[in-house]
Amino acid sequence: MPRTLRFLPRSMLSLATLALTFTVQASEPNKPAAPAKPTVYQGDAARGQPIAATVCAACHGPDGNSPLSANPKLAGQHAAYLFKQMQNFKANAEGKPERVSAIMNGMIAAFTEEQMKDFAAYFAAQKQTGGEAKNRATVELGQKLYRAGDASKGLPACAGCHGPTGAGLPAQYPRIAGQFTEYTEAQLKTFRTGERANDPNKMMQMIAVKMTDAEISAVADYIAGLH
Ligand code: HEC
Ligand code: HEC
Repeated sequence: MPRTLRFLPRSMLSLATLALTFTVQASEPNKPAAPAKPTVYQGDAARGQPIAATVCAACHGPDGNSPLSANPKLAGQHAAYLFKQMQNFKANAEGKPERVSAIMNGMIAAFTEEQMKDFAAYFAAQKQTGGEAKNRATVELGQKLYRAGDASKGLPACAGCHGPTGAGLPAQYPRIAGQFTEYTEAQLKTFRTGERANDPNKMMQMIAVKMTDAEISAVADYIAGLH
C-alpha cells in the first residue's frame, strides 16, 4: 500500500477528532449552570457504619433498605438531603424540631452534626433495592401526574424537580424512586395538612394541597416502581 494512502485516513481521523473536540468545547457555554455543590458537606461512610448498621438498621435495614414500609428506605438517597432531614428532626433553639416524628426526633437527639454527616454518607453509598407499582388500575394516572402534572389545576409535574426517573437532584431534590408506596403517600398527606412543613419555600406543601387522595395514591404507587 502506498505510504500516502495509509497516512491519509489517519490524518482525517485526527482532524475529525479535533473538530469534535472543538464542537464540544464550543457548546460548553450554552450548558445550564451546574447545580451548586454543597460546600459544607463532608461525611465519612466508614465512620458512620458501626452505628448506622446497628442502631439505625433496626428500622432502616443494615444497608438502608428497610424491611417495613413504615420506615423509609435511605439507601441511595442523596447525602445532603439525608443530613438535612436529620437536622430537621433535631430540636432547634426553641426546642422544636422542624420535622416532627415521634420516633426520629428521639432517635437523632443524641448524635452530633459530624455523626449525622457520617450516617448520611453511609446510607447514600448503599444501593437501593427498588420497588414496584402494584396497582394496575391507577398506574396510568400516576404516570400522567408524575410526568406532566395537571395543568387544569396548576399541579406541576413531579419529574420537573425529582427528575424523569425519580433520582432527584442533589442537594435540594430528594430521590423518590423505589420508595415504599405507604411512606410516599404518608409524606404527601402530611405536606398537605402542613404537619410536615420543612420543605424549602413550601414547595411540596403547595403541590400536595392540590392533590386528592386518589391522585396521591396513584402517584405514590407509580413512584414505587420507578428506577
Ligand atoms: C425505631 C425505628 C427507627 C430507628 C431506629 C431509626 N429510624 Fe429513621 N425513621 C424512622 C421512621 C418511622 C421515619 C419516617 C418518619 C416520618 O414519617 O416522618 C424515619 C425517617 C428517617 C429519615 C428521613 C428519610 C426521608 O426520606 O425523608 C432519616 C434521614 C432517618 N430516618 C435517619 C435515621 C438514622 C440516621 C437512624 C440511626 C441513628 C435512624 N433513622 C433510626 C424510624 C426509625
Ligand atoms: C418545585 C419542585 C418540586 C416539585 C414539582 C415536586 N417536588 Fe417533591 N420535593 C421537593 C423538595 C424540595 C423536597 C424536599 C423537602 C425537604 O427538604 O424536606 C421534596 C420532597 C418530596 C417527598 C419527600 C421525600 C422523602 O423522602 O421524605 C416526596 C414523597 C415528594 N417530594 C413527592 C413529590 C411528588 C409526588 C410530586 C408531584 C406530584 C413532587 N414531589 C413534585 C420539590 C418538588
